[in-house]
Amino acid sequence: MTRDPGAGHEGQEDKVSGDAFLRHAGRNFLLAMYTGLRSLKLYPVENATAQKALDELQSAALAILGPQGEIELRLSGDFIFVNGTRLRLELDNYASFSNLLAALRAVDIGELKVATGVERREWQVFLGVLLSLSGKGGTEVNPETLLDLRDKLAVAGVTHLDLEPPLESEEKLAEAERAREVAKRTYSHGVAVTKDLINSVRMGRTTSVAKVKRAVQAIVDQVLNNETSLVGLTTIRDYDEYTFTHSVNVCILSVAIGKKLSLSRLQLYDLGLAALLHDVGKARIPVEVLNKTTGLTDDEWKLMQTHPWQGVLTLFNMRGYGEIPYRQIVVSHEHHMKTDLTGYPKAIRPRSMGIYSKIVAVADGYDAATTRRSYQTVPIQPDQVLREMWENPRRGYDPVLVKALINLIGIYPVGTCVILDTFEVAVVAAANPDQNFVNRPIVRICIDVNGALVGPPGQEANLADPSADGGFLRSIVKVTNPDRYGIIVGDYFV
Ligand SMILES: [Fe+2]
Ligand SMILES: [Fe+2]
Repeated sequence: MTRDPGAGHEGQEDKVSGDAFLRHAGRNFLLAMYTGLRSLKLYPVENATAQKALDELQSAALAILGPQGEIELRLSGDFIFVNGTRLRLELDNYASFSNLLAALRAVDIGELKVATGVERREWQVFLGVLLSLSGKGGTEVNPETLLDLRDKLAVAGVTHLDLEPPLESEEKLAEAERAREVAKRTYSHGVAVTKDLINSVRMGRTTSVAKVKRAVQAIVDQVLNNETSLVGLTTIRDYDEYTFTHSVNVCILSVAIGKKLSLSRLQLYDLGLAALLHDVGKARIPVEVLNKTTGLTDDEWKLMQTHPWQGVLTLFNMRGYGEIPYRQIVVSHEHHMKTDLTGYPKAIRPRSMGIYSKIVAVADGYDAATTRRSYQTVPIQPDQVLREMWENPRRGYDPVLVKALINLIGIYPVGTCVILDTFEVAVVAAANPDQNFVNRPIVRICIDVNGALVGPPGQEANLADPSADGGFLRSIVKVTNPDRYGIIVGDYFV
């Protein structure tokens, strides 16, 4: 591998060697390969459609081989590179590309090299064998199949096509990609279910909690299996759907904190459900007040403050429970009380907030403060929010639980854009797995030392990596706004 997939190819755009040429010709080549694959799947090889598809595949390959002498097609995560140039996926070709990617991945192909002199017949053999093998294993990748595929090609006299398995780092990338896919589905399902529930309550319809419970269980299971991918999603915010994404975010963060405290799976189900329903009382607040983008009047603010006990009433009425959801009721009632009871509703007697309420309060405070609402032009930076929650006792959070949250997401949560002392600009990709380094996350470099925009995916760097003089190779100087550098944060870690 001589080319760096992340590096930009600046310089003159030559008609037959530049990026623009490769993007265009590469795309044609891939689409022709996909069409070929599909045609051979649907029709016998002697059929005119299949023959035409093979002709087109051969001429698309020649169009690149002519000027460039070879084709090196490489898969990396969700990206496809042709001779080092990353192809742009557009909506109209996305399905074809991802189907082809899946077919190649199913037989563990990470790279396909095509040499000058390739014959049409070789494509026919290659696609035929690919089809016969990829059909077998379903989506399970079997490393044996690549060897099998190579053997079959050799026996059939295919000498101009060479196959390589994915690089190990790319396999990991693909693995992470799959985990993210599952996480995204769990997340959006959670949002949909919450939306349904809140709307039913709002319209006074009876609601079943069974669906909500299942969505919570899926979230808990996912957090227990692979916490990072789901927690990472809480930073991607859909401002239009704030009420629903907020509930799901608080659920994910609460469950992840609960996991850090070693709660059992059943306790996490209970906690997760309480977290998802913590603001259910807001369904009884008029939408005009709830979504108001300017400051609230005193009366409106008082109305907003009724949501904890409105939630209590709502939960008492909820169907589908074998028993009354006491723990969820307590959390709805207590989540704004603050540990020193200076919050609302006012406690009549001395009491101490339950542990679930304290956890939900921390997750709730963090998510609310880091979300940019339509009327806040400048979002508060996550590191400042955490510092404030941690240092200011008047905020009324349990410091042990804030610490658990910091351990979970780091001082710099995934998606934070940071300037490094090397003058590089980077996006936080993951908390450091070593908990001694909560302020030294794993990042992806978006702007290199020369000030050039890199990637995505961008080079990965662990900020805990030591330098020769006993310090660190890279350190965070400050948090910055990615918009200033033209960085689309989501591209680097989603
Ligand atoms: Fe609330
Ligand atoms: Fe809330």
